[in-house]
Amino acid sequence: MTQKTPNIKVLYDEKVLADQVERLAKEVAQDLPENVLVISILKGSFIFAADLLRAIHRAGGIPDVEFITLSSYGDRETSSGKVEIMRDINNDVKGRDVLLVDDILESGRTMAFAKDLMFARGANTVQTCVLLDKPTNRAVDIKPDHRAFECEDLFVIGYGMDLAHGYRQLPYIGVVVADDDE
Ligand code: IMP
Ligand code: MG
Repeated sequence: MTQKTPNIKVLYDEKVLADQVERLAKEVAQDLPENVLVISILKGSFIFAADLLRAIHRAGGIPDVEFITLSSYGDRETSSGKVEIMRDINNDVKGRDVLLVDDILESGRTMAFAKDLMFARGANTVQTCVLLDKPTNRAVDIKPDHRAFECEDLFVIGYGMDLAHGYRQLPYIGVVVADDDE
């Protein structure tokens, strides 16, 4: 099988990601209610959530874990503005303290939707934690409670994040650059 691999400029390498996730987990763990329910928003946050959860464990937290698949992007690089539940969580959030985990907060629509949904279902508290905060295109008034990095307005790939379903497997975060752009 041959596949052309484009040039990728690394923005956050594996070491930087590991260090920041560890720092973030310590910050989150200090703030965490007992028996918190961590809800990872798929697909983009699966690698971040897996690393964050293990770092939260090292920081002394004992979270429950759930997954919800939300879609706002489809195959395009711009948000469609509408958020849909593709696959829901299995457990009740009534009375629970929830930590929503996502890869990127951009327009804020995905996180705002998830937050409203959890409160509508009777969650006691809802905190938000993102790997990248991209504030430039924010359309909803929302700030993350916890974030690893603030990022400029670039379309990034890797560490769970995709471009048209590709590149999620990259262990670092980067941007695709044109051949003569390096
Ligand atoms: P929002 O609803 O506009 O805040 O978008 C958040 C979602 O869009 C994230 O969960 C990501 O899955 C996706 N997203 C936003 N920016 C990027 C990007 O640069 N690369 C890959 N996915 C992105
Ligand atoms: Mg996402």
